[in-house]
This record gives sequence, C-alpha cells and structure tokens, in this order.
Amino acid sequence: MNTWENMAPNRRILLIDDMPSIHEDFRKVLGNPARAAELDEVEAALFGGGTQAVAAGFELDSAYQGQEGLAKVCQSLAAGQPYAMAFVDMRMPPGWDGIETIEQLWQQDPQLQIVICTAYADYSWDEILRRLAVGDRLLILKKPFDAIEVFQLANALTAKRQLTQQAALKMADLEAAVHERTEGIQSANNALTAEIMERKQLESRLVQSEKLASIGQLAAGVAHEINNPVGFVLSNVSTLNDYVEDLLNMISAYEGAEASIGSADVVAALKSLRVRLELDHLREDIPSLMKETREGLVRVRQIVQDLRDFSRVDSHQDWQWADLHRGIDATLNIVGNDVKYQADIIKEYGAIPEIECLPSQLNQVIMNLVINAAQAIGKERGKITIRTGVAGDQVWIEVADTGSGIAKENLSRIFDPFFTTKPVGKGTGLGLSVSYGIVHKHLGRIEAQSEVGKGTIFRIVLPVRHPG
Ligand SMILES: Nc1ncnc2c1ncn2[C@@H]1O[C@H](COP(=O)(O)OP(=O)(O)OP(=O)(O)O)[C@@H](O)[C@H]1O
Ligand SMILES: [Mg+2]
Repeated sequence: MNTWENMAPNRRILLIDDMPSIHEDFRKVLGNPARAAELDEVEAALFGGGTQAVAAGFELDSAYQGQEGLAKVCQSLAAGQPYAMAFVDMRMPPGWDGIETIEQLWQQDPQLQIVICTAYADYSWDEILRRLAVGDRLLILKKPFDAIEVFQLANALTAKRQLTQQAALKMADLEAAVHERTEGIQSANNALTAEIMERKQLESRLVQSEKLASIGQLAAGVAHEINNPVGFVLSNVSTLNDYVEDLLNMISAYEGAEASIGSADVVAALKSLRVRLELDHLREDIPSLMKETREGLVRVRQIVQDLRDFSRVDSHQDWQWADLHRGIDATLNIVGNDVKYQADIIKEYGAIPEIECLPSQLNQVIMNLVINAAQAIGKERGKITIRTGVAGDQVWIEVADTGSGIAKENLSRIFDPFFTTKPVGKGTGLGLSVSYGIVHKHLGRIEAQSEVGKGTIFRIVLPVRHPG
C-alpha cells in the first residue's frame, strides 16, 4: 500500500507541443542524466544545498496535440502512474489550444501541475486566469526558453505534486488514525458505561444487603431481648387465665351460697358491690380480654421469631439436600385453605435437581410469597402460578400472581423490613425482608417484576450446591 512515507518519487512529465523540435530540446534538458548532473551543479551553485532528487532524472513523455495529451493522461491515471506535471504549448493547430487542453486535463487529474508555454498570447492573461480557475497549479513560461528555467520548473513542480500527494496521503493516514482512535475511545466508552451500570446495580444490591445486615443485627438484638420476657409473659398469661377462671368459678359458688347468708345487710352490701363492679360484665369481658392478650402475645412471639430468622441468628441451621417441589407442596397445603377461596393455584414445575438448602426456611419464603400473592388478588378471583426450572448450576422458582401489582415507587422498598402497604394488623412488612435474608443466606437472589393492575412475579434463583 502506498503510504506517504514510502511513496516512490514521481518524476513523470508530459510535454504537449505540436513542434517536434521543442520535444528534442526538452529531452535534452530533462531526459539526459549527464545534462541533469551538469545542471545539478548549476543549481547547486545558484541555490546551494544538495539536489539528490534532480540526479534521478525525469521520465519525459511526448504528445503533439491536446487530444493526444489527454489520452496519455487518462492512460497514466488508469495505470496508477499519473504524471507529476505537464508542459502545454499555447498554440497547437489544428487541435485544441493550450487553454482548452488544460481544462480537459484538469477534469481528469485536478492535481496535475501545469506549465503553459507561450511566445505570445491569443488570450489576455486575465482571460486565461478567469477561464482556468487556476489556483496554484499553473505556471507560465514564456518563449524563448532557458534550459535552467525549464529544468527548475520541472524540478519544483514534480516535487510540489509529490508533496501535495504525500500531504493528502498523510492526511488520509491521520484521518484513519483518528477514526481508529475514535472507535477505540467509543468502544472503551461503551465498555465503561456498561461497567458503570453494572457497578451501580452491584452497589444498590450491596446497599440493600448492608442495610438489611445492619437492621438485621439490630433486630437480632431486640429480638433476643424481647424473646425472654415475651416467653414468660405468655406463660404467665396462660396461668393467669386458669387462675381467673378458677376465681370466677369461686365467685359463682359464693353467689350460689348467698341465699344461705342470714344477714340481710350483708346480702344487700354484696348486691350493691356486684352492681357497682358490673360483675356480670366482668365475667363476660375477662375471658375475651385474656384471649386477645394471648393472641397479641403469640403475634409478638411470631414477629420476634421472624426477626430472628431475618437476622440469620438461627443457630441450628441444617443444610441438607432437598426436593424443592415437596417443600412447595407442603407449604401450599398449609396456606392452601386461606388461599383457595381467592385464587387458583397453578403449578408449572420443571425438572429440577435436589438442592443443598435449609428446607424449612425456603418453605417460609414460599409461604410469604404465596400469602402476599393471595393478599394482592383482592375480591375478584385470580391466579397464582408457581413455576420452577433449572439454569446451569442454579434453580429458579417463580411465584406469579394476577393481583394488584406494585407501584414503581414501592418496588425498591418491598424488601425493607417493616415496609408494608397493608392495614395495621394485616401486615407487619417483614415477610419479604425475612425472605430476602433467607435467600441471601443461600447465596441466591430474589427479584420482583411488577405491573400495576396486572400482577407481580417474584423470582428466586438458588445455587444447586451451597458453596461454603
Ligand atoms: N405479590 C404482591 N403483589 C402486590 N404487592 C406485593 C406483593 N408482595 C409484596 N407486596 C408489597 O410489598 C409489601 C411488603 O411485603 P411483605 O411480605 O414484606 O410485608 P407484608 O405482606 O405487608 O406483611 P407481612 O408479610 O409481614 O405480613 C406489601 O405490603 C405489599 O405492598
Ligand atoms: Mg407478606
């Protein structure tokens, strides 16, 4: 390939003149190496410095009419060997004159350097300049010629063409280099953008898991502190319930014995006390108060348990190989009763291998998801679809519902502990954060995809083997 650095020098010259004797003269001046050497010396004496290129001599081609000259230029271009320059005579009857010839030549090769040779002009110079938008490609040589003039013109213009061409090639090289660089930068930029995106995602996952971890630690502490008092309060309440029942029985017995009290005053005092204390109301209210208290405490205990699970402080973790489908089926059996009035449960199980996991905890995740799905479905009957599948060394489980969907602004918060959109008493907002903790412990992922009004898909991805 021609690059500007290894370009061969172009010393090809075309002479277009109708007079054969002129060709002879030019050949003597330009085609003769001895003459060239001689002129070399003259030039060195005149201009100083080395003239190595000159000694290489010129290749001189002849044409005797403008049309012939044009044909030669076309041939040379086709052969990839363009002339560096042409000397063109002004008057060349019967064919084109110099101006016409030059116009034709430049149409083929706009870079061709031209010297127009003339003794007298049929045109004014102004006219010539106007007709040939000359620029810097045209020089004028007036007859009679001086050999050194001809030689120096040839020398300078071939070099000029060479330099112009080199500059163009260099420009093209530079453009290619810039293009290459730009592409490189573009692809580096793309890679960078992709990396930044990836990092951002990673960061947000990290933030989420750090957030959960710190909340988890706090929760673990709180859960631990609450667990004991809740335990004994619950047991005391049970005992208290028994005692109160006994006391009420005792009071009933005393009431039954009132008839055998001799003193009317005592009977009247007891009656007024009974009225004042609203004993009948107490009798009715106490058992339901006790029942509510117990239920409240059971719920507190469940929350504490959830918090402990969420915070992963559960000490006896039992990693075992288990069939997820069995776990899912068992879980559906437990929650099925609540769910089946609201939704059809569709199972689309794939062929998945057993995985190394904490089965009871995964069951809890499934339970949370199924209950959430059912709660999202509302009054109109919907569908809950449970799908499983395998992808490489991971299995996935999807729980999809046709429920309300999750608003965009909530989607990033659903795994936060205590985030709930449900009325007080219906949701604590722990289900998903506990699930997140469990899935995380399995070194898996849980993600939600949702469209408001259409439904939600939760997807869990778990490694088949628990590494570590
Ligand atoms: N399948 C679902 N469809 C619509 N919204 C959902 C779904 N699952 C979860 N959500 C939203 O995420 C919130 C958090 O869910 P999460 O299970 O953590 O708590 P909760 O169900 O509100 O309470 P809890 O599970 O503790 O009883 C829900 O309140 C609800 O707004
Ligand atoms: Mg829930």
